Amino acid sequence: MTISIDQYAVIGNPIAHSKSPLIHTSFAKATSQALEYTRIEGGIGQFAADIDAFRARGGLGLNITTPFKLDAFAYATDLSERAKIAGAVNAMKFENGRAYADNFDGISLVRDIVHNLKVTLRGKRILMLGAGGAARGAMLPFLQEGPALMVIANRTVSKAMELIAPYVQSHPARAAGYDQLASLQFDVVLNATSASLRAELPPLPSNVFAPGCLAYELAYGKGLTPFLQFAKTHSVHHLADGVGMLAEQAAEAFAWWRGVRPDTQDVIRKITIALV
Ligand code: ATR
Repeated sequence: MTISIDQYAVIGNPIAHSKSPLIHTSFAKATSQALEYTRIEGGIGQFAADIDAFRARGGLGLNITTPFKLDAFAYATDLSERAKIAGAVNAMKFENGRAYADNFDGISLVRDIVHNLKVTLRGKRILMLGAGGAARGAMLPFLQEGPALMVIANRTVSKAMELIAPYVQSHPARAAGYDQLASLQFDVVLNATSASLRAELPPLPSNVFAPGCLAYELAYGKGLTPFLQFAKTHSVHHLADGVGMLAEQAAEAFAWWRGVRPDTQDVIRKITIALV
């Protein structure tokens, strides 16, 4: 007799570095859930075939990482509001022949800042660098926290303007080029660009960090990236990378799949790499 165990996976390319199997295996153990969680190295241009094969093997849920978040958006039969707003999908659930899709990145970033790092966003000045997919999904969760100001800075200013367009009437959201930041200060500065993946630094003026500022790098596991190094050099003591965000989005997906939300503290401790 074969005993089948519920199957989950993360799909990306490359995928060998992914911490998701370790995270979900820890969650399963801590919540006494019987499941197996693996990695899938997806083929470029064959996302749908890879997912169909996973579902045919009995797969129940997936996390989706680079470069498949848009493919997952196209594949889904049922998109959450959050996924629609982000224009990208980072988690799927397969049930009754449907492919349900959500995006937990934005809410998990905010949860990490407010809940884990204990930085209140109400009344604060927030600067987000970058206007790609990572920034888009985070806009609404940040604005819902009631900041005094949220500026999206991007090399291509038109993309930042597009990103804030749905919110400018009702929220203190602004778009800017890097050269317009020269006289401004912020309480939270986030790097949501893909610059760190190539060890590059966005062209950020050093005045942007207000005293007591939090500098947050959305990438994780890279230690002191050029952005965090730049912040440190300019007297920022509160530095964080996206490790907490990663753990929180995993917990959201786990809760969605299994109906139980695991605590993230243990996992965050396990996967944190010192920012030196
Ligand atoms: P993601 O989905 O990860 O956000 P993306 O949609 O490709 O990735 O967006 C990448 C973002 O990083 C963009 O905002 C890009 O700026 P432009 O729109 O002006 O190209 C930004 N980016 C990439 N490399 C950068 C660099 N060296 N300096 C500043 N911004 C950079």
